[in-house]
Amino acid sequence: MVERVFDVDKVTGSIPVSRTKIKISMKILSIETSCDDTGISIMEVKGGITNASFEVLANNVSSQISIHIPYGGVFPALAKREHIKNLPIILEKTLKESKIKNKKKPVDLITVTYGPGLEPTLWTGITFAQELAKKWNVPIMPVNHMEGHMLSIFANKKKKFKVLKIKNPALALLVSGGHTELVLIKKWMNYEIIGQTLDDAVGEAFDKVARMLDLPYPGGPEISKLAEQERNKTKNENIKLPRPMLYSKNLDFSFSGLKTAVLYLIKKIEPINKKTKAQIALEFENAAIECLVHKTAKAIEKYKIKTLIVAGGVSANEHLRNKMKEITGKKIKLFLPSKELTGDNSLMIGIAGYLNYIKNKKETPKIDSIKANGNLRL
Ligand code: KG4
Ligand code: ZN
Repeated sequence: MVERVFDVDKVTGSIPVSRTKIKISMKILSIETSCDDTGISIMEVKGGITNASFEVLANNVSSQISIHIPYGGVFPALAKREHIKNLPIILEKTLKESKIKNKKKPVDLITVTYGPGLEPTLWTGITFAQELAKKWNVPIMPVNHMEGHMLSIFANKKKKFKVLKIKNPALALLVSGGHTELVLIKKWMNYEIIGQTLDDAVGEAFDKVARMLDLPYPGGPEISKLAEQERNKTKNENIKLPRPMLYSKNLDFSFSGLKTAVLYLIKKIEPINKKTKAQIALEFENAAIECLVHKTAKAIEKYKIKTLIVAGGVSANEHLRNKMKEITGKKIKLFLPSKELTGDNSLMIGIAGYLNYIKNKKETPKIDSIKANGNLRL
């Protein structure tokens, strides 16, 4: 859209000056199906990488939690079936809510998660995007789910948001059900992983420990709810768990030993009542978060970090959020996603997709060449 603005020169008072203010805006449809959430959104976007601004026209996420509860975790074949069933329904709802009149070509670009995640579910989103792209004759920008989480810090519920300038060097701690990594951000789209888990992801550890304590899936919110109830009460000195790799020289993590330690602890003190369950939840949360916080603080010091981003499903954890506020203080700018956008959503895929689209000078891969990559790295 080109908007011409004519105004009278205030100094001379007579010469009309014509300024051409180019306002290029485009509509993007974003799709997220990397795990058990089906997300579709439409946003109107404008600006370059450093001043991109977004307006959410419609945003929907359908969670499959209730379907996976009986399995105690995500059952991939079932997740795939649900995505296939939900995608057309959510698309229709999203298009309707967006109030876009052009039915032949409602958007100018499609962004879709192509990894990391569960390959069968990633494929459902990709093939759905490919069909739409052909029908509407629009390009597709494939997106890395973890880059999406990183950029979710800018999205909010107010419907309009901007990609803010951040001070470099910046660091991101990405914590989810499949990932735990410390990422050095040289600039957007230019990353270096400087630390990561050597075994389980921290979210996975929360989920597995929750299962040991007979708490429903997903375990993270359940453990943290119990832990918060117990936080300011007298400590049970018999309930102690290790902090794996806390003093290792590198910036890596390990959560599998911590999970096993919980199993042995439960066996030692069985039968466990409600109170001890909450005490175990608290000690586990303290141990896991202490590992995350300690290595993040170490990375901040080593790389003279000026901006810290904490994102991914586990960034909903209140104790983690509080501890990160403590270590950053006033000197380091801390960005956290709003609570409702810590989990998987397609707004973050839209932000990452758009920034990559601009960075690639609007070049996109051939539609049929886009493939799911479950192990995609930043
Ligand atoms: O990013 P996400 O929604 O999906 C993946 O990409 O994996 O992260 C899901 C993970 C689950 O393991 C879940 O238990 C964990 O995030 N989680 C939490 C909390 N809320 C969600 N972990 C700890 N505390 C929470 N409050
Ligand atoms: Zn995620």
